[in-house]
Formats: sequence, C-alpha cells, structure tokens
Amino acid sequence: MPGISKTILVTGATGGIGLAVCSRLAKAGNSLVLAARDSSKLQTLRAQLSNTCPGTHSWISVDMTRDDSVTEFAEKLTASTVILDGVVLMPPQDPPTNDPLPSSDKWREIFQNSFVGPLSLLKAAIATMQPDPAKGRRSKIVIISGISSAQVMGHYASSNVLRCAWLAEAKTLAFALGERGIHVNTLSLGGTLTPGYAASLEQRAATAGTTVAQRLAEETSNVPLRKYGTPDEVAVAVEGLLSAFSDHMTGINVLHDGGFIRAY
Ligand SMILES: NC(=O)c1ccc[n+]([C@@H]2O[C@H](COP(=O)([O-])OP(=O)(O)OC[C@H]3O[C@@H](n4cnc5c(N)ncnc54)[C@H](OP(=O)(O)O)[C@@H]3O)[C@@H](O)[C@H]2O)c1
Repeated sequence: MPGISKTILVTGATGGIGLAVCSRLAKAGNSLVLAARDSSKLQTLRAQLSNTCPGTHSWISVDMTRDDSVTEFAEKLTASTVILDGVVLMPPQDPPTNDPLPSSDKWREIFQNSFVGPLSLLKAAIATMQPDPAKGRRSKIVIISGISSAQVMGHYASSNVLRCAWLAEAKTLAFALGERGIHVNTLSLGGTLTPGYAASLEQRAATAGTTVAQRLAEETSNVPLRKYGTPDEVAVAVEGLLSAFSDHMTGINVLHDGGFIRAY
C-alpha cells in the first residue's frame, strides 16, 4: 500500500506473526489499532511503533474468548471514533488435539474461544468501516484462519472443523458485504517459524536426539518448497491482501503453506 495510509486493526498483535505484520504495516505508513490480552505488551509495542514508524498507533486490550471483554472492546473502539480500513483477525486456538469427538461442553468452549468470540469482535470492527467503492475506498478483512493446514490432520482434530467454519463465514460475509466494498479473505498458514514454533521444533529435535537442522529437514520433507514459512513472509501476504492487489478478490482462501496442500 505504498503512499496510502490506512487504519488497520491487528489482533494477536504481540505474537510471533502479529509482530511481523504490525512492523510491516506500520513501516508502510499505516496507523494501527493493536489488540491482544496483555496491556503492558501492547503498550510497549505501541511505543516501539510510534518511535520508529509514521502513523498514529493505539491499542485496546481484549480477551477474544470472553463475551464481556469483547463487549468492552467494542465500546472502546466505538468511543475512539476510529474508522477502520482493514482488520487482521487472528482467532485464538486451543492446543492441538487428536480427539475427534470431544464432549459437548468442550465443543462449546472451543467454538466460543475460536469462533464466536472473535466473530463478535469482527462484527464490532465492521461497524466502524466506511467504505466508498465509488471513490476507490475499500475496506479489507484478512482472517488468519487459525489452523495449521488446509488438509485434514489427525492431531488437529478440532482445528480441522474450526477452519472450515471460518472459511464458510468468510465466504458468507464476502457475499453479504461485497456490495458495500468490504472484502473478506482468509489466509491459511502452514507451519510458520515464529519464536514459539521454533522453540517447539527445538524440543522435538531434542526428543528425537537429532539436530534442529535435521529435524527441520525431516519435518519439511513433504513440503514442496522444503521449508516452513516465516512471520515476515506472512506479513508480506497480509499486506498484499489489504492492498489494491485484492481490489477484485473476495471470499477467497489463500494458502501460505509452501505447497503443502495436495488438492487443486
Ligand atoms: N505459528 C504457526 O506455525 C501457525 C500456523 C498456523 C496458524 N497459526 C495461527 O496464527 C495465529 C498467530 O500465531 P502466532 O504463532 O503468532 O501465535 P502467538 O505467538 O502465540 O501469538 C498469539 C497472539 O494472540 C494473542 N492472543 C492469544 N490469546 C488471545 C485471546 N484469548 N484474546 C486476544 N488475544 C489473544 C496473544 O497475546 P496475549 O497473550 O497478550 O493475548 C498474541 O498476541 C494463531 O491464530 C495461530 O493459530 C500459526
């Protein structure tokens, strides 16, 4: 988006992927509204961005899994009178599980945390958008669908289901909001070497008694590009989906997985 400053809400702003996304979007001149639970991390990030990048940056803490917290977030967002041009939504997700039939209570919890809560936040964000396609003003939503793979994986049992829920919701929203100039696309990530994922890779290498390089080569042997993605690469893709690149694209799912998915 060179030369055009936009205001973008980034959830999960302080995480491995969020930090790279915020850094890239802020360096490009955008103003950011940062969201996550930990206020002190948000405050630190806002200060860093304000010291090093143009744009006006703010933060609102929120626990996306809790209705009361999302309601408070929505009130603060409305009170701030910010007009959002974009949203990068990263729904929280439970740790991987290989249980395809969790209890009904567990399913309710999973859906609340990873779908209902984040969707309610997205609704509040959409309410602030004022697109005007006739004047070239489009609003863009990028949902990082929160799931590691676009194909069924046994150890991501509930994630497989949630991912489809997000793809279906994005498609439905794209259909409903397209006329207003609001675009909704999802970005499905394969393994991405955030600090957290790199630490788990190191742990797996130690458990297997191999080097990290060996373990990485083994784990990515079924990825055509023979590597995991990086947070910076995700940030480039997010920036693209928020930019004019997607002016005639909505309701699509972009796979950012090194070619891991076999379907076409
Ligand atoms: N890394 C990968 O390989 C990979 C692959 C596929 C998909 N993904 C998805 O990409 C997204 C970001 O991943 P990441 O690796 O950057 O994760 P991360 O480093 O754990 O960061 C998570 C971010 O979300 C915030 N967050 C967590 N729970 C929250 C909640 N209940 N309400 C509001 N904010 C919350 C965290 O801040 P607070 O703790 O302060 O709230 C943090 O900013 C996630 O949806 C993840 O599932 C990652």
